[in-house]
Amino acid sequence: MSDIQGRVAFVTGGASGLGLSMARIFLKRGASVMLADRDAEGLERAVAELSSDTNQVASVVCDVADASEIEKAAQATIDHFGKVHIVVNNAGVGLGGQPGEIPLQDWRWIVDINLMGVVHGVEVFAPLIQSHGEGGHIINTGSMAGHVAPGGMGPYNATKYAVVGYSESLKAELMPHNIGVSVLCPGWVRTNIHTTGFGRPSGGPTLEEAKDDPQFQEMDAVIKGGLDPDKVAEWVADCVEANRLYIFTHEIMKIGIDMKYAQIQADYDAIIQDGRFKD
Ligand SMILES: NC(=O)c1ccc[n+]([C@@H]2O[C@H](COP(=O)([O-])OP(=O)(O)OC[C@H]3O[C@@H](n4cnc5c(N)ncnc54)[C@H](O)[C@@H]3O)[C@@H](O)[C@H]2O)c1
Repeated sequence: MSDIQGRVAFVTGGASGLGLSMARIFLKRGASVMLADRDAEGLERAVAELSSDTNQVASVVCDVADASEIEKAAQATIDHFGKVHIVVNNAGVGLGGQPGEIPLQDWRWIVDINLMGVVHGVEVFAPLIQSHGEGGHIINTGSMAGHVAPGGMGPYNATKYAVVGYSESLKAELMPHNIGVSVLCPGWVRTNIHTTGFGRPSGGPTLEEAKDDPQFQEMDAVIKGGLDPDKVAEWVADCVEANRLYIFTHEIMKIGIDMKYAQIQADYDAIIQDGRFKD
């Protein structure tokens, strides 16, 4: 899709952070935007900040983990704007921990949001984009954690690897239907992502209680030192218009990718040199 101008975008996680910034930048480039989020008050604030023109911005409360809520949100978008061209499956939460210590209900919670939320968005919206024949674009928010997986963040990393792999498949599958696919893979961005794990189903400390915890403070400082989400969103819009698959951000983090592929190369060379599977 070469132009965002005049298109209709649906953005999950649109009440905060990267979703809100992508909505802002798409609006600036002439799109109309439906914001979707489970945070009703956040949505109200976001709409008030973006535009009072309901032909440009509207919102719908929606939990991406629930497929039926995405279906209703899609219907609300069609009712309001007539059609959808750009879908941003962006809502996500963070969860880390050590093996043996992460309750399975928390694992299911993050998979339902970070992976199934993306699946629900694709399943519902891809046929709707195909049906109007004007083409479109799907952006799934992955992460650098979908390419390089440091310890301590197993559940988050697993969901983001899944989103990257799924997006790579979608790219090939949706190309014949004139639907482009991008996977946004940022490093640290200045948002509220590090506070989302406090909503996990097993409970644990509240955000208020965690504020004195040195581990939380360290993460808070890292996130506050992250990129401006509006700048990332500008780059996302450029990459959508260029139909780029991977949307990377931090130059410095390429070193992690290089190290990973060096490891893959070395381990592949080991079996080639061994020769036991030679045809
Ligand atoms: N901030 C970073 O450093 C960073 C880096 C890499 C990837 N990401 C990814 O970016 C995406 C956006 O996160 P962010 O950084 O803007 O954080 P954020 O917390 O500021 O925004 C996330 C938004 O998603 C919403 N949300 C969470 N669960 C939801 C659900 N079940 N249904 C609907 N809405 C839900 C929240 O209410 C919030 O508005 C996430 O997928 C995150 O994993 C963030």
